[in-house]
Amino acid sequence: MEERRVLFSGEQIQQRVRELAVAISRQHRGQDIVLVGLLKGAFMFLRDLGAVLEQIKTANIADCPGVGKVFVEFLSVSSYNDGHTSGDLKLEMDIRRPVKDAHVVLVEDVADTCNTLAWAYAHLRKKEPASLSVCVLVAKPDKHRHEVTLHHVGFSQTDLPFLGGYGLDVAGADRCVPYIFEVPPE
Ligand code: IMP
Ligand code: MG
Repeated sequence: MEERRVLFSGEQIQQRVRELAVAISRQHRGQDIVLVGLLKGAFMFLRDLGAVLEQIKTANIADCPGVGKVFVEFLSVSSYNDGHTSGDLKLEMDIRRPVKDAHVVLVEDVADTCNTLAWAYAHLRKKEPASLSVCVLVAKPDKHRHEVTLHHVGFSQTDLPFLGGYGLDVAGADRCVPYIFEVPPE
């Protein structure tokens, strides 16, 4: 196999995930929260984020009592274009749990143009949650085309290439790779 250029190692990702979980725990101390992951890319990130949120509740981390119950939901939207451009979006699978008056955290892998996030945010807003915040692992700020507040960001970097691994696929594969690497242009 050709050597991959690793951009965010497994250790770096886990460190940021811990920090993000602490920030979310502080924001929502004692409150039940619903993590809404955007399929498929956010599944690894959501899994690790959720695990640390649970650890914080039982570990004795100073000034951080943790959140209440953590619920998990998934949302699937598809683009009419090739999946990473700003096409029209279509709902493929909605969340099942009503989130009216709930504290919702939208969990996304990559914020590129933010088309997907803007759509998902508006979609969830209509369900009248008590709060709705956005947590993304990787932001590509120079590519953003839509106004979306990213409340919690793992890594924000300009000039990022197309990424694979840690939930992100390369032609359908490599989603379970525990680090993020550059997908070389064809
Ligand atoms: P958007 O342009 O921010 O709407 O992103 C469209 C979709 O493409 C999102 O669901 C992202 O998860 C995905 N995406 C954006 N950049 C990358 C990347 O570098 N690798 C894999 N998926 C990406
Ligand atoms: Mg995605």
